[in-house]
Amino acid sequence: MKLLALSDLHVGSAINMRALKGLSPRPEDWLILAGDVGETVQHLRTALELLTPKFAQVIWVPGNHDLWSIDPSDRPLRGEDKYRRLVEICREFGVFTPEDPYPVWPGSLDNGGENHPPVVIAPLFLLYDYSFRPDDVAGEDAVSWAGAEGIRCGDEDLLDSVPHKSRQDWCSLRVQLAEQRLEAATANGERVIMVNHWPLREDLLTARKIERFSLWCGTKQTEDWHQRFNVEAVIYGHLHLPGTQFRDGVRFEEVSLGYPTEWDGALGIEARMRQILPVPVEQTRFAAHLEGADTAFSDEQRGPVADERREAVEAVEHETAE
Ligand SMILES: [Fe+2]
Ligand SMILES: [Fe+2]
Repeated sequence: MKLLALSDLHVGSAINMRALKGLSPRPEDWLILAGDVGETVQHLRTALELLTPKFAQVIWVPGNHDLWSIDPSDRPLRGEDKYRRLVEICREFGVFTPEDPYPVWPGSLDNGGENHPPVVIAPLFLLYDYSFRPDDVAGEDAVSWAGAEGIRCGDEDLLDSVPHKSRQDWCSLRVQLAEQRLEAATANGERVIMVNHWPLREDLLTARKIERFSLWCGTKQTEDWHQRFNVEAVIYGHLHLPGTQFRDGVRFEEVSLGYPTEWDGALGIEARMRQILPVPVEQTRFAAHLEGADTAFSDEQRGPVADERREAVEAVEHETAE
C-alpha cells in the first residue's frame, strides 16, 4: 500500500483529461490531489468519477483555479460558495477535504521490504496574502509592483473572496483554523503530512521564472509550520515545477502535472505521480547524504537538475558500496 500525490491536473485541457482516463488502477493505494484539478464544478466531478474507482482513497485540497468563478452559468458560484460546492462534490465521492476530520493513512507493513507506520494526513486550504514580496514593497503596492513587470495572476479577476473582505482576509482565517486543528491533531506526538496547494515557505520558490508571481504563491504565516508541528512531509503544487526539496530535514514535495507543454506525453502521467510513503529508498539515501544542506532535485524530465540528482544518488551509492 502506497501514499501517492499529484496536483495541477488542469483537466480543462483535453490532453490532460485523456491522460487521466488512461491512468492504471491502484486499488490499494491512496492518492492526494493537491489542487488545480480544473476550473469548473464539472471538471472536479469528472476527475473524481475517473479517479475514485482506481484508488482505495482520494484526498483533495482546492487550488486557485478550482476556485475561479467561470462556471458556464449566468451566475457562477463565487468565493466561499464555490469552495463549499466543491467540498460537497468530494463528499459525494467519499473524498476527504480540508473540511473533514484528518484521515489516517494506515501504513504499509510489507511492501517489498519497505514499510512505514500510520500517519495523519492534514488537507489544508490556506490561500495567499501577497506576503511573498521584498521588505521594501508595501502590501498595498504589491499588485502594482508585480504589474510593473507585466505580471498579474488571473486570480485578480477570477478568484472572488466573498463573503470575506479580501483574499488576504480569507487566507488569515484559513491559517487560524488550520493552526488550531493541527495543534490538536499533533498534541500526542502524531506525525502529520501537510497538503496545501500553495508552498508553505517563500524559499521554495527557487525558479527564476516565478519572480514577482510570488505574490500569489503563499503566505509567510506558515514559514515555520514544518518545525512547529511534527511533520513527516509537506505536499504542494501550484508552481508547475515538480521536485523535492528539504528544509531543516523535512521533505517538501512539489507534485504538479501542469499543462500539456509542461510534461512529457511519452512518459505519461504515471511518471509524474509521486510516491510519498513509504519513503522511496532513493530519497532516503539522498536526504542522508545531504543532511544539514537544503537542496533541491527535480523530476527526470527536467534535464540538468535531474542529472545533478542522479549524480548525487550515484555518489551516495558509491560511498555506501565502499
Ligand atoms: Fe496549476
Ligand atoms: Fe495553482
